[in-house]
Amino acid sequence: MPIYVKDNIFVLETERTQYVFGIDNSGLNRHLHWGAKCDPADYFIETFGDENSNHTMLDEYRQEYTVFGSTMYRECALKVRFSDGCRELDLQYDGFAQEGDTLEVRFSDRHYPLKVRLCYELTPGFDVFTRWVELENTGEQPILLEKVCSAEFSLPSQKPYTFRNTNGAWGGEGIECMQTLMGGTLVFESRRGISGHNQSPYFIAYQNADEASGDVYFAALAYSGNFKVSAARDLYSFTRIHVGLNDFDFSYTLHGGESFETPKVFCGLAKGFGDMSRQMHKFTVQNVLPQAFAEKPLPVLYNSWEATGFDVNAENQMRLAEKAAAAGVELFVMDDGWFGARNNDRAGLGDWFVNSEKFPNGLQALISHVNSLGMDFGIWVEPEMVNADSDLYRAHPDWTYHYDTRTPHELRNQRVLNLTRADVQAYLFELLDRLLTENNIRYIKWDMNRPFSETGADNLENPQMLWHLHTMAVYDLVDRLRARHPQVQFESCASGGGRSDLGALSHFDEVWPSDNTDAIDRMTLQKTYTLLRPVKTMRAWVTDVGGPNKPTSLEFRFNIAMQGALSLGGDLTKYSEADMEICRENVALYKEIRPLVQFGDLYRLADADEDEFLCTQYVNKSKTESVVFLAARGTRFYKKRVILRLAGLDPVRRYRLEFDGKMIEKSGAYLMEAGLAAHIRGADYNTVLRLFAV
Ligand code: GLA
Repeated sequence: MPIYVKDNIFVLETERTQYVFGIDNSGLNRHLHWGAKCDPADYFIETFGDENSNHTMLDEYRQEYTVFGSTMYRECALKVRFSDGCRELDLQYDGFAQEGDTLEVRFSDRHYPLKVRLCYELTPGFDVFTRWVELENTGEQPILLEKVCSAEFSLPSQKPYTFRNTNGAWGGEGIECMQTLMGGTLVFESRRGISGHNQSPYFIAYQNADEASGDVYFAALAYSGNFKVSAARDLYSFTRIHVGLNDFDFSYTLHGGESFETPKVFCGLAKGFGDMSRQMHKFTVQNVLPQAFAEKPLPVLYNSWEATGFDVNAENQMRLAEKAAAAGVELFVMDDGWFGARNNDRAGLGDWFVNSEKFPNGLQALISHVNSLGMDFGIWVEPEMVNADSDLYRAHPDWTYHYDTRTPHELRNQRVLNLTRADVQAYLFELLDRLLTENNIRYIKWDMNRPFSETGADNLENPQMLWHLHTMAVYDLVDRLRARHPQVQFESCASGGGRSDLGALSHFDEVWPSDNTDAIDRMTLQKTYTLLRPVKTMRAWVTDVGGPNKPTSLEFRFNIAMQGALSLGGDLTKYSEADMEICRENVALYKEIRPLVQFGDLYRLADADEDEFLCTQYVNKSKTESVVFLAARGTRFYKKRVILRLAGLDPVRRYRLEFDGKMIEKSGAYLMEAGLAAHIRGADYNTVLRLFAV
């Protein structure tokens, strides 16, 4: 995995691809290639002049990182304001530093004391590599950053690319939209303070690609705050993409001697969407997730939210825990309602003390009971928020984002704490640290249930920094709590999947991808989630959601939830003995296939939206074992006969499986090429096939 550097040309070589840029004679950073491997010695930099007085070479050049100013009128990656009012950047090349698989290419402004470093890191074994940018003010006067992207990308073809992103919502986080960019600009962004439920902080750009073939360019931003991904196709037909912090209501004051590091971008070029997902799953587990639990299987958990809502108490949680343990659950999580005066969503947020009416013997009595049943205990918190009806708000009304002259808008009756304040950070750290020190808690579900508003922060010299500083403060709090309590797993939740990006996954072990636990809807949402995020980080509950419009059997719901990190969330106290038996059987099955699902290679063989049925296959690393999930809400025209051509197997090995009530044995080649004739029939169809190499 070398990095070749010759004549100011940098060739970054991944497993199967090359990413190439160089510095031309005038000092401009010029993007040269992203695609298949070529002889590194062949690259050279062509220079040319302006085409005419309207179309400039600065607009036409594919730059590696375009700065604002001069006769460049396109979107830029970096824009600053110097203390004398100058808003132009003029960078010169200062050399590079290479250390193993990391490359830093250095620039500085020709007049002002600003250094810019473009950083790249290759990861052996992957076509995924990492980019970010560092800025340093080496002078004395402050420099105002007005826009700072993590990376700029130029795609090779001058034909249009299609972009795959989401146009989701709460309860529909993974609703996808594919748009071909013919001209103008496509923007995917968040302006809410969190990455949000709507658009996603990544790009996936392709021409004629499907699951198994076609060049797929992708880049995922590791950031949970306001982001912006903008793709433009210009008058020269080049598609260029900027990825980074949103410049909406953003600026950042960089004082003399200070540095700023952008969030990282994980980017790559894959052969088909399936290859992209498999690479990103492995890459994220090995390089992005907090390493304490990254390589460990995640436990089967039970969560109380859909069963008991805010009405938690020692008695009903113990009863649920007993049923959960009987089903084989390994971790019991008590959700909202256990603290302060939290009897509904109008009070209590901020008062992270156990409610002694609901828990007269404290949390410890419940935790001991849960532990005695053989399960770990976890708990829900929403640290960034406060209800006006809380002791915390009564004591510190100034601790929220607000303007004295504006009415604060509440959502779910709550306001956002100003996490850029050191005293707020100290309060939260102290309380959460105490909660984890005094109780045997192994799991924190960290929630965040509303976007920001009235974003005043008079503790800050530049309040426009709050969007970014808030996200950094969340990461810092979680990191510090983890350091003190390394036995605790952290789940990122924001009204479901409002904070499910790769930034969250750099600090949290897993994600609650959606409040929508309807198995039919999850067939779509889970596909989108696992495009760029590991299967093991996707919590999936079996609940009682369904109802007359979308009836699904308990087996069906298990089939869908077992395709991620299986969890239970129904009211088990109402389950019949037959239902409990279904739970026991499926949880036991899941524990057997868990290494395959959480760490195997994922193949999406059929799509619930396009093919009427869902077929998802997982194969272990040594290709000795595989599991295939099939599910259909219902088939039209009486029946559906399909040839199931499996994937990812060893063609020369033979596999044994039970199919259509019979044990059969076939070669991997047969299963992948000739395939199995399956008959998918009726409503609520679901089955799980297990393959073992003989
Ligand atoms: C959010 C979460 C839910 C649940 C509730 C509790 O909506 O997404 O899973 O924890 O809050 O209030």
